Amino acid sequence: MNKLRISFVFSATSLFLLSASVVAKDQHHKNYLPPPSVDSNFHDNGHPAKAKVVLGKFLFFDKILSGNKNISCATCHHGLTDTGDGLSLPVGEGARGTGIIRDTGTGADAVYERVPRNAPPLFTLGAIEIDTLFHDGRVQVDAAQPGGFKTPAGDDLPLNLENVMAAQAMFPVTSATEMAGQAGENPVADAVAAGNLAGTGGVWELLADRLRNIPEYVSLFNEAFGTTANQITFVHAANAISAFERVAWRADNSPFDRFLRGDKKAMSKSAKKGMKLFYGTAGCSTCHSGTYLTDMDFHAIAMPQIGQGKGHGSGGYEDMGRAAVTGDANQRYQFRTPPLRNVALTGPWGHDGAFDTLEGVVRHHLDPEKSLDDYDCSTEPRLPSRADLDALDCFVMNDPALVMNIKNANELGKTNLNEKKIAYLMDFLHALTDPNSVDIRYDVPRAVPSGLPLAD
Ligand code: HEC
Ligand code: HEC
Repeated sequence: MNKLRISFVFSATSLFLLSASVVAKDQHHKNYLPPPSVDSNFHDNGHPAKAKVVLGKFLFFDKILSGNKNISCATCHHGLTDTGDGLSLPVGEGARGTGIIRDTGTGADAVYERVPRNAPPLFTLGAIEIDTLFHDGRVQVDAAQPGGFKTPAGDDLPLNLENVMAAQAMFPVTSATEMAGQAGENPVADAVAAGNLAGTGGVWELLADRLRNIPEYVSLFNEAFGTTANQITFVHAANAISAFERVAWRADNSPFDRFLRGDKKAMSKSAKKGMKLFYGTAGCSTCHSGTYLTDMDFHAIAMPQIGQGKGHGSGGYEDMGRAAVTGDANQRYQFRTPPLRNVALTGPWGHDGAFDTLEGVVRHHLDPEKSLDDYDCSTEPRLPSRADLDALDCFVMNDPALVMNIKNANELGKTNLNEKKIAYLMDFLHALTDPNSVDIRYDVPRAVPSGLPLAD
């Protein structure tokens, strides 16, 4: 009797210990892993009105939104190149071709300059926590602003933009190099040159007017927003484009996502080891934190600078990143931590596409300053060649004083990982690929309402 009782007590205690250790383990998981991605993390609960998505898809692929009617959003964010363009730096309006075979154009149409930064992928940007867009965060949710967003347009930004992606969609059409064209080429380009975005005869009004004159668009806008032809504004277009981007490229069903939802077998053993490193000794989650693997903050990590830059610095060919938005010199060379869903598909990597391999950009993180010194600017960038453009591509990297400035701003220390651990980390990054994103040809419409060609 006594014996039995003792053994009962013993087993009860061990049961208690066992369950305590299970709880502790779960809590440990909770501490280092983000919560899974769910519908409610997304604007419109992940399901914007279908009519907006249908309209947005056409607009995204329609060259009617560019001054010279020769480039669409999709040119730089194409389904055939995983919502980027496959190049280090895009070639904007005037060039021809899609993806890495895009050229620089010929004759009077030839491009004026390279686009200064890499075209980022558009995966999972519909999550509400993604409140900061562009590499320098110049489009951002900001409740203190009348329209709810801080953007380069300041008070000119119209009201009724539904979310930060819609606010972003107002801007590519206002860039001479990306979509509008050079002054003298068309009325949209002239409005850009005159700084007239929101006024009568401004960029947004001119483009809305084009859409009002295409009957198929008039009925699509009517279905999406209940507008009559003359009520169509570019804000409606931006809201529709955002709806399409958010639905088409949500991309939260990767092995990692399934693991977070409780399928412990969704990731391979080595990817799990890589995950432990990412959230542990490799220190990646210090910045790539949260469900979408970004802190939505800015950091200087000594990324090599290629291309003609953003007109910053005494030579005019540097890119000071966040500092140019805030005016705070302490933020020089800081760029937004990018989200990493589908990162294995979305090269080249870095704010200027400096690295042409995923492993290259990962190794850069492990010893940023040495990587900056070792960077081979003559071979690594993936850019179509044209003598005058090529001449500026390595302007910064060929100037030791400018490279030193980037190095001095660096905030990312060295991390020692052996080759085996680097391979685990790579396996984890590959486990961020959503199988639904591997083939996104179906995102491309067969024709667009303007009748303009889809081909570039
Ligand atoms: C000529 C190439 C080009 C075209 C055309 C273009 N983009 Fe982009 N896009 C870029 C580049 C480059 C950036 C990053 C610019 C920066 O950060 O300064 C960008 C950034 C973005 C972002 C922000 C992504 C992020 O993670 O912050 C979104 C969203 C986007 N573009 C959507 C669009 C839409 C919508 C259109 C059409 C209205 C469009 N783009 C047209 C090149 C292009
Ligand atoms: C100090 C913050 C910080 C830490 C820690 C960090 N990153 Fe980053 N990461 C960034 C920033 C900022 C960028 C973009 C920098 C730029 O483009 O100039 C970036 C870019 C990347 C990119 C390229 C993504 C793209 O779309 O171009 C990858 C991949 C990446 N990081 C993976 C990692 C891994 C793996 C680790 C851990 C070994 C790590 N990061 C640690 C801040 C950080």
